[in-house]
Amino acid sequence: MVIKDKFNRPIKDLRISVIDRCNFRCPYCMPKEIYGERYQFLKNDQLLSFDEIITISEIFSKLGVEKLRITGGEPLLRKDLSLLIKDLKSIKSIKEIALTTNGFFLNKYALDLKQSGVDRLTVSLDSLNPETYKKLNGQNLDIEKTLEGLKFANSIGFENIKINCVVMKGVNEKQIIDLVNFGRENNLIIRFIEYMDVGTINGWKSDDVVYAEDILRIIEKKYELEAVDPNYFGEVATRYKFIDGMGEIGIISSVSKPFCADCTRARITADGNLYTCLFTNKGHDLKSVIREQSSKHLEDFIKNIWINRSDQYSQLRALGKTDKEKVEMYKIGG
Ligand code: GTP
Ligand code: 5AD
Ligand code: SF4
Ligand code: SF4
Repeated sequence: MVIKDKFNRPIKDLRISVIDRCNFRCPYCMPKEIYGERYQFLKNDQLLSFDEIITISEIFSKLGVEKLRITGGEPLLRKDLSLLIKDLKSIKSIKEIALTTNGFFLNKYALDLKQSGVDRLTVSLDSLNPETYKKLNGQNLDIEKTLEGLKFANSIGFENIKINCVVMKGVNEKQIIDLVNFGRENNLIIRFIEYMDVGTINGWKSDDVVYAEDILRIIEKKYELEAVDPNYFGEVATRYKFIDGMGEIGIISSVSKPFCADCTRARITADGNLYTCLFTNKGHDLKSVIREQSSKHLEDFIKNIWINRSDQYSQLRALGKTDKEKVEMYKIGG
């Protein structure tokens, strides 16, 4: 069975945040002035247990989900993550498990991830410039470790790793070509993302956005590109390949060209709240239901939420009709 929402959108992907902590303090997600040493992140007993995540994923898979994406915070900080992945992998109708990470711990965990059944990796990397990288991770961390982790992951069989690069005006827009070249040389799919107004704490202004059009113009000054069809229905990135055959890039233009009409994604936070849009503060408490009621009840609860879903934030943003209260990015995993 595949359930559909008010706009006839099926539920296809489940994004599971396994932890709200992160070793980075990217200014657009977890500014270090707010998320200092004394900040109270979720305690262990507030996190969904692995068994609970598996039960929830099984229910979602019955309702149509075929792809899982593991996110955080930084998912590699969740203890024994590969044990969870192994069990998620055994859910029959799940065709793919992907993971989004900042890459800093890939050296340590890539092999476990591969062996447990992760199919694809996406690594967030906004800059190759060591100084900008240090600034953007908010912790003065060197880029070397992330680059080594990427290389290692590739060497043990993770192919076509995607790189997410959030492009911000006056911050990294001049580094676009460096990233493009890096992708071409290392078989990586670089995806340039328009900086979005997620959460409430990054002080987003539309002036900070570098639009897809401008990103493309910068790249096309140097390389000839050709648009390519999406890999699957509802893919968020628009794909382009290099005419010379050396790889592809993606552009994610949630601000200038919203893709709500095809949005098939549900998200759960590490403490078990279900969100049906990246830009809402209305979570639905699955954890209480799973801890207090039967799994049949949980299935009906989830079904009812999706069937009544009418989110289309990015589309409404363009019309100026949006809520001010939104869940923070590090809780919902992007
Ligand atoms: P694949 O297509 O499976 O590679 O992954 P993905 O692009 O769906 O996931 P990823 O976590 O790499 O997300 C890339 C960027 O797109 C991030 O900045 C996300 O926050 C953003 N994004 C993903 N899904 C949505 C969505 O439904 N709405 C909006 N507005 N942005 C999204
Ligand atoms: N706009 C666009 N992308 C963002 N990400 C985090 N915050 C934002 C934002 N404000 C990206 C991260 C990560 C992905 C899941 O979301 O860089 O790669
Ligand atoms: Fe951590 Fe990712 Fe947020 Fe940066 S964007 S602080 S790496 S969760
Ligand atoms: Fe989906 Fe909300 Fe993003 Fe639109 S803004 S694509 S409804 S998550």
